Amino acid sequence: MKYNTETEKLQKEIRMLLKEKDAILLAHNYQVPEVQDIADMRGDSLELSMRASKTDAKVIVFCGVHFMADTASILSPDKTVLLPVLGAGCPMADMIRAQDVQKIKEDNPDVVIVSYVNTTAEVKAETDICCTSANVIQVVNSIAPEKRIFMTPDKNLALYAKKRTGREIDSWDGYCPIHNNLTAETVIKRKEEHPDALFIAHPECRPEVLELADEIKSTSGMIRFVNQSSAQKFIIGTETGLIHPLSQANPEKEFIPADRGMICPNMKKTGLTDILEALETMEPVVEVPESIRKRAIKAVQRMLQIPGV
Ligand code: 13P
Ligand code: SF4
Repeated sequence: MKYNTETEKLQKEIRMLLKEKDAILLAHNYQVPEVQDIADMRGDSLELSMRASKTDAKVIVFCGVHFMADTASILSPDKTVLLPVLGAGCPMADMIRAQDVQKIKEDNPDVVIVSYVNTTAEVKAETDICCTSANVIQVVNSIAPEKRIFMTPDKNLALYAKKRTGREIDSWDGYCPIHNNLTAETVIKRKEEHPDALFIAHPECRPEVLELADEIKSTSGMIRFVNQSSAQKFIIGTETGLIHPLSQANPEKEFIPADRGMICPNMKKTGLTDILEALETMEPVVEVPESIRKRAIKAVQRMLQIPGV
């Protein structure tokens, strides 16, 4: 993508500072294009946390939302994790608290708590195993069949996992406001407008929307699917930021947002000037307190140890 001189200047300054500070820049697939395009890696939640756990760099600049920087800090306590805009949060992650999970465990002593990575570190500390949109099926299948499962916080992800695995899964009543807002009526309308397009959806969408999908994938899973598909047109059932990496990798293909309103304001908060400032001041730092980190890392590592994840 071609940027104006001012933007290019900022991008260059950031790349120079990254080198100087021995830092890497990780960007989620929903970030604004000018941020994505200077990242050392862009990806989905799973890919970014894996990269955060493996990097040799001293500093991780996380361009995403708070729980992602938290996860990086849980996995790499010896690194400095910068979240350029501290107020970039995830409303779904804030829908459940650690005390809610404690209560679930008190009421259901034998239950296995599976928490979406979109949770606070405190919730992860109360969790048996984490999952992301890319590995939820493998995570659920890794749990002994006689065990009961309770998933937090996303009810839609839980229903998707229940349907795909045939397991009994109870769940918290949380949801992503962006994905949950996409209705089946809107998708049907879009399909009528573009009868030759495939509809790909994120598992955070409602069950009746997922029923209409040709494929259900994490954000990077969508990119991989489109890259290898012979289809030319796709209706994208996720945050519209994903259209940037999709179009970059597939300039000859056409991408139609399922709903143009699918914009996550928190994922758009981080701009180039915020990144530059964070690198200059080495703030704001996200650091999970050791007492919580020690407990939270078990659930994250258990997820990362599943074969094929
Ligand atoms: P992915 O892990 O699929 O990128 O999803 C993260 C997210 O926040 C989706 O809304
Ligand atoms: Fe959270 Fe939804 Fe935004 Fe993803 S798109 S960060 S789940 S609010």
